[in-house]
Formats: sequence, C-alpha cells, structure tokens
Amino acid sequence: MVKAGGEGKILPHHFIKMKRKGIKIVMVTAYTYYQARVADEAGVDGLLVGDSLGMVIMGYRSTLPVSMEEVLHHLKAVVNAGPRALIVADMPFLSYEVSREEAVRNAGVMLKAGADAVKLEGGLEVVDRVEALVKAGIPVMGHVGLNPQRYLVVGGYKLRGKRAEDAASIIEAAKALEDAGAFSVVIENTAREVAAEVTKALKIPTICIGAGPDCDGQILVIHDVLGINPEPPPFARKYADLYNIMKDALGRYASDVRSGRFPSEGEFWSMSEGELRKLRQILRVSNSEAKG
Ligand code: KIV
Repeated sequence: MVKAGGEGKILPHHFIKMKRKGIKIVMVTAYTYYQARVADEAGVDGLLVGDSLGMVIMGYRSTLPVSMEEVLHHLKAVVNAGPRALIVADMPFLSYEVSREEAVRNAGVMLKAGADAVKLEGGLEVVDRVEALVKAGIPVMGHVGLNPQRYLVVGGYKLRGKRAEDAASIIEAAKALEDAGAFSVVIENTAREVAAEVTKALKIPTICIGAGPDCDGQILVIHDVLGINPEPPPFARKYADLYNIMKDALGRYASDVRSGRFPSEGEFWSMSEGELRKLRQILRVSNSEAKG
C-alpha cells in the first residue's frame, strides 16, 4: 500500500511533468478493490472512478442517475487498494452544477474519502467551479468534447468537433479550463485534429478517449479493455475476452456442482476422529432423550 503523498505515489503535478518530458499517460477506470489493484500492478498511471459506473456496474442507461453515494462507495474500494496510481473521482451529475459552494463541498467529500483529484464535465460553463475548487485546494481534471452528462441537450452521444466552429469552441473551453487551474483535461469523442490542437495549445496534459493518438495520454473504461463488456464502443481496444472467459468458468462451475464433482478432496475439511466420536455420542444422548 502506497501512503497518500508517499514515495512513488503519483500526484497531479506528476501528470504535468510527464507531459513536459513527453511520457504518455495511461489511465483506466476502476470501480473495485481488485480492479484498482490489478491496474496498479500493471503500471497504469491513473485510475478514474468514473460515473460510467452507472452503466457498467449498475446497468443504468446513462450516467445521469449516478449519485455522490455511488461514486463514494466505489471510490472507497479503489482507495483501499492503496494504489501508486493517481486516483481521480468523477463528480456525478448535479453534484457541481447548482452552486460553487455545493461543488466545493462535494469535491471535498471525494478528497476526504481518499481521491487525489476530481473530474468534472463541461467547458466555459464550469470555469468558475474549477476556479473555486482549485482555490479550495482540490485538484481538478476537466472534461471537454462529448460530455455524456449533457447528452440530452446536445442531442445524444455524438462525435464532437466535426464542424470548425464546434472544434474552435472545444479548444477555447480547454484553454479556459487550464487558465482556471485544471491540471489536465479529458477529451472525449472528438475528431483527431481537435484533440491534437488542444494538446498543442495546453501546458497541462490531455487524456483522450475516442479522440485519436495525438494526446498526452489515453483513458479507457476497464470493462472495454478487458472485454467484460461484450459490446465495447468502436474506439476502444479489447485486450482480453473476460465476458466469455467468465461465462465459460461459471458454466463449468455450475456443471461441477450439479454432477457432484465440486467440492472434492482438498476443497473441504473434516473433524478429527476424536471430535467425531464425541459428536456421535452427544447426538445419541440427545436423540434418546427426545424419544424418552
Ligand atoms: O466516467 C467515465 O468513465 C469517464 C471516461 C469516459 C473518461 O468519464
């Protein structure tokens, strides 16, 4: 377990140093103790307790129903793994929109639970929130391009920055987030050229998802990387087929239970001869008492 801020622990300023040195930043989402542990052991630099948990853990149809309590629950599991990787907690819908005060209070709760930083979605409309959080000592990762929490007002989960005006507005938003004190920014589902321009324009690193190879780092949802989600989005790369591996393993377990092949020798334990004799004696006495 790496102590908060201890030797080797990755903190927000390390992300900026990595950009300066041209070292690519690797992030993945994590929602559980073992996901965090295995991703950290694999050498991932950052773990996002994303509001994508709404879909991949809870089976919601969007991220809108995700609550502070749900993110906190999963954040605690990730924190318990004591990762060296930076832990970023996603601010769920309605945890930062209502007022700056609510944003600071909710982000502060994430830090108290062990997050190293928070992420929130939006461009110019959240700049004052980012300023307030940074002023309160809370490191912030921005999130531009496709903002899934705003899918209802933008007309769905569409590719952003296809048109020059939209592309320019994304670049402007990313610059404003940097000026407001964000230490990095996620770019989601934009044309490659938009992400490349943002990456060139900013001193803070860009972490991309579905936005091409010209960014300072990449992030994917762990269920897509590992193939736990059998229908990953086209921009994700599946490095394992855990859905089918799990299905096969569970099918063999069910068949072993039904056939009596599980459990077998070594998978259960027995009483000593002496204790067994005593137990039989106790049972004989209680049975004869019950009859008599
Ligand atoms: O919640 C999430 O998983 C995210 C990533 C898509 C960046 O925000």
